[in-house]
Amino acid sequence: MLSDIDRILIDRDAIADRIEQLAERLVLDLSAEADEGRLVVMPVMTGSLFFTADLVRLLPLTFRIQPTTVKSYPGKSTQSQGIVESALLPETIKGASVLVVDDILDSGRTLDHLQTSLLQAGAKEVRFCVLLRKDVRRAVEIDCDYVGFDIPEAFVVGYGLDFDGLYRNLPDIAVLRKHVVG
Ligand code: IMP
Ligand code: MG
Repeated sequence: MLSDIDRILIDRDAIADRIEQLAERLVLDLSAEADEGRLVVMPVMTGSLFFTADLVRLLPLTFRIQPTTVKSYPGKSTQSQGIVESALLPETIKGASVLVVDDILDSGRTLDHLQTSLLQAGAKEVRFCVLLRKDVRRAVEIDCDYVGFDIPEAFVVGYGLDFDGLYRNLPDIAVLRKHVVG
């Protein structure tokens, strides 16, 4: 229910502006890889659905989009509990320069897990682009090449981010009321 929303943390216009800035940098940084035909953009589903859709349409480069799934938040939990599920990586990763796109960097486990699997699958290099980076003590330190916004520790939803599968469709990024997340 929308009454579960406490406040908007980042509105849709701020998100759009920031994505334009990120895209400008990505174009500069990834043109060579794209020209060589080895750029793969890898959205981590489902949270980065809208972020990826908005971002890649601002990249006039040649690349493949290869989504993956990594799950670390079973059901109504708001705390990362380690990786519970991960998709198999395809052959096309071999020799690729992979730009992993995720909604939010929290404990770091998701991106750490992906980095290991991608390198094992033969990726040449792995970069990370996250829309949000939470200000928390991370279980695993992750060097993020591209960060949309640094945010304080809070459970956020909207623009792809969910709580128990809900609220992904909110156009802004919002903080849920305390009673909802428990
Ligand atoms: P990490 O593995 O702990 O870094 O968590 C990353 C994943 O947890 C993200 O891809 C999100 O799917 C989910 N996540 C972490 N924090 C939040 C949040 O505040 N709201 C919604 N999902 C979150
Ligand atoms: Mg995720």
